[in-house]
Amino acid sequence: MSSSQKPTGPAAPGEKSGKTPGKTRPDPVRRRRFLQRCLGALGGLGSLMAVYPLIRYIEPPPEAEGANRVEIDRASLPPGTSRTVIYRGRPTIVVNTSDGYIAYNAVCPHLGCVVKWEGGTQSLICPCHGGIFGTDGSVQGGPIPGPLTAVELSVTDDKIIVGV
Ligand code: FES
Repeated sequence: MSSSQKPTGPAAPGEKSGKTPGKTRPDPVRRRRFLQRCLGALGGLGSLMAVYPLIRYIEPPPEAEGANRVEIDRASLPPGTSRTVIYRGRPTIVVNTSDGYIAYNAVCPHLGCVVKWEGGTQSLICPCHGGIFGTDGSVQGGPIPGPLTAVELSVTDDKIIVGV
């Protein structure tokens, strides 16, 4: 056979096949296992996606139930900052003031807007009509008919617990 002729048929044992080294066909068993694993992983992912809404339905988030107790990591609330959480179905503002932690129902007694903490003036303000509350919840200004409602709060070494 001359060098320009192509080999016909499979190569005999010990004979060169004429194929380029390194370009071997993938092992069909390994490819099948790989595809089975991929399908298994996709099936598992699909099952999780199908079950997740059921788990969420069975165990709704505490906010939806109006949790009777909300824990906040103290490290996540440095001095001068605030966090609004949902406690018993209502927005509750927790503030780390220079005098300690305070918590109030954040619903303004005027017309129901949610108050915000203003660190610069050390007060709680209502953005709707300019109502102002002191850190003790008392009315400091604006058309507000009464003070904010205090919420029970306790503090441990690493947690702030709203609702005891
Ligand atoms: S709703 Fe807060 S001041 Fe009017």
